[in-house]
Amino acid sequence: MNQPYTPRIDVPTQVRNRRAVEWVAEIAALAKPDRIVWCDGSKAEYDRLCDEMVKSGTLRRLSPAKRPNSYLAWSDPTDVARMEDRTFICSERPEDAGPTNNWVAPKEMRAKLADLFDGCMRGRTMYIVPFSMGPLGSHIAHIGIEVSDSPYVVVNMHIMTRVSTKIWDLLGHDGAFVPCVHSVGAPLAPGQTDVQWPCNKEHKYIVHFPETREIWSFGSGYGGNALLGKKCLALRIASVMGRDQGWLAEHMLILGVTDPSGAKTYVTGAFPSACGKTNFAMLVPPPAFKGWKVTTIGEDIAWIKPGKDGRLYAINPESGLFGVAPGTSERTNPNCMAALRENVIFTNVALTPDGDVWWEGLSKEPPRELIDWRGEHWTPESGRLAAHPNARFTVPAAQLPSIDPDWENPDGVPISAFLFGGRRSNTVPLVLQAFNWTDGVYMAATMGSETTAAATGKVGVVRRDPFAMIPFVGYNMADYFDHWLKLGWSASQRPQIFQVNWFRTNAEGRLVWPGYGENMRVLKWIVDRVRGCAKGIETPLGWVPDFEDLEWSGLGGFSREQYRSATAIRRDEWESELASHDELFRKLKDRLPRQLQLRREMLHLDLKG
Ligand code: GTP
Ligand code: SPV
Ligand code: MN
Repeated sequence: MNQPYTPRIDVPTQVRNRRAVEWVAEIAALAKPDRIVWCDGSKAEYDRLCDEMVKSGTLRRLSPAKRPNSYLAWSDPTDVARMEDRTFICSERPEDAGPTNNWVAPKEMRAKLADLFDGCMRGRTMYIVPFSMGPLGSHIAHIGIEVSDSPYVVVNMHIMTRVSTKIWDLLGHDGAFVPCVHSVGAPLAPGQTDVQWPCNKEHKYIVHFPETREIWSFGSGYGGNALLGKKCLALRIASVMGRDQGWLAEHMLILGVTDPSGAKTYVTGAFPSACGKTNFAMLVPPPAFKGWKVTTIGEDIAWIKPGKDGRLYAINPESGLFGVAPGTSERTNPNCMAALRENVIFTNVALTPDGDVWWEGLSKEPPRELIDWRGEHWTPESGRLAAHPNARFTVPAAQLPSIDPDWENPDGVPISAFLFGGRRSNTVPLVLQAFNWTDGVYMAATMGSETTAAATGKVGVVRRDPFAMIPFVGYNMADYFDHWLKLGWSASQRPQIFQVNWFRTNAEGRLVWPGYGENMRVLKWIVDRVRGCAKGIETPLGWVPDFEDLEWSGLGGFSREQYRSATAIRRDEWESELASHDELFRKLKDRLPRQLQLRREMLHLDLKG
C-alpha cells in the first residue's frame, strides 16, 4: 500500500472558494482515493451512480412496473443503525460537551483520525458533494460539503439535501461551509473485488468538532452515521450555531392543522427516534373530522428562529424523508405509502419474488416467500424478521401528498405549540399541557422513552431523552436547557408546550390508545387549547382533557375505562419518575438552571399534596 500518490483534483472553474479547494486537496492527500468526482446533484448523476451500484451489487433495481425508479440496498449486518457509543463531541473543554456526550480531547481525536483516514479511500472514488440544508440561498440555510467514498451516500444526499453546483456560486471566494468528511473505511487493494456494503467492522467514529464546526465520520455507511447533513450538521453542529446565534436546531416534525373554517395552526413534535414523528407529521384525520386537514412541513428536523414579530418560526432543513419502514402501511400511514410509489431507495427491507419490497406491518398476511434483508430465503415459518427493525426508505419530500404549500418557505412557519412525546408503557398520560414555559421546558428536559432499534444497543429500556435530543445536542445538555429557557422567555409570543404519549399499555401488555390517525383527537384538543377554546382540568403535572373534552365520534366503543387507562396519573409511578428526573439532574448539576431544580421540588410537593 505504499505506492506514491499524486492527487488529480481538477477543480471545476465554478469552484472559487479557496478554503474548499485547499480542504479537498488536504483530504485527498490524506485519504488517497483513486479518483475524484465533483458532484453536481443532477438526475443524470443520480441515475449513473445507481446504475454503477446495480452493477457492483450494492443496489438491486426493483420492478419498474411495481416500484418505478426504485432500488433496494442491504447493508452489512454490523452496520444497521446510528452508533451512539461511537459518536463524539470533541470540544476543547470536556465540560462544554457535557456529561451526556462522549468527549475526547480534539488533539487526541485529530491524531486518531489522521491515522484512520490515511489511505482509507485507496481503490475508491472520492465524491465531493456540495449541499444546502434549507432552501438554496435562503437566509436561514447553511451550506455543507461532504467528501465521501460511498456512492450510496451520494445518491441519498441527493434526496435528503439540496445538492447543486449553485452552491459554489453561493459560496463565492470566501463563503462559509461545514466541512464533512466521510469514509466507509474499507480501502481496496489493486484488483481486490468490493463487497456489497463496504464498511469497517472494527473501527467506527462519528466525530464533531463544535468550535471549528467540522464533521469526520469513519467506518459506517448507514443513515445518520454517513449522511452527514442530517444528524451531524443539522442537529449536532447546528445546535451549537443556534446556541451562539440565538436559535434552535431540534429533532422535531413540523405540521400544519387546518380547521373547517380554514384557520391554520402550526405545531412541532419532538419524539425520540422511531417514536412516531414520520407518522404524526402526515396524519390523516379520521372521517369524523370533516373539513380538518393536516399538512407536512418536516418529519425529523426543525430549525426554529425568532421572527421580527416575536413569534418563533420553523423550517425543515431537509428535502427528503429517511423513515422507518416496519410498521408503515396503508392503515397506519397512507400519505407515506403514496410517497413511496416511485423514486425510492429502500435499505434493509425484504425483496418479494416479483421484484417489490415487503416489511413487517406492510400487510396483515406476509408473502409466502421473500428474500430477507440478509439476502436469505424467508418464509413466514422462518421465525425471523424479514426486514431489519431499523430498515428505512429514502424518498423526496416533494412526493408526499400531504406536503404543505409553505414547506420550502425560507421564512418558515409560525409555531403555536411544541409537543414532546416518548414511548412510555406507563406513567405518562396521553396528553398534558404545561402551565407555562418553564414548566414546559422541565417536561421536555425530563422526558423519558423506551429505547428503539433506531440506534444500536438494548431495546425497550426507559432512558431519559431530554427534548428527544440526547444523541443530538452538540454541547452541554444543561446549557441547552438554559438556552431553551432564555429563548422562550425572550420571545413575545411563546408557543404552548404539551407532552403526549401514544404508547401506554394495559395489564395484558396491549396498547390502550389506537394511535396513528386517531391521534387527531389529541391534536384537535391541543389546537383548540392554543386558541383558547377547549376545556381542560388541572392536575399537579399540568392541564389534561376530561373524557368529554375530546371528540369521540367515529371511534366506536372507546370506553371511559379505556380512556382512564390511557390517561391515569398514578402517584407511585410518579414518585419513581421524579427520582429518575433527579438522577438526570444530578448528572447535570454543575450547570443545571435553578428554575428546573425548583420545578422538580414543586412537583414533588404537589404530587404529595
Ligand atoms: P426517526 O426517523 O428515527 O427519528 O423516527 P420517527 O419518530 O420519524 O419514527 P416513525 O414515525 O417512523 O415511527 C416508527 C415506529 O413508530 C413504527 O413502528 C410505527 O408503527 C410506530 N408508530 C408511529 N406512530 C404511532 C402511533 O401513533 N401509535 C403506535 N402505537 N405506534 C406508532
Ligand atoms: C434517527 O435515528 O433519529 C433517525 C435516523 O432519524 S438516522 O438518520 O439514521 O439517525
Ligand atoms: Mn430522527
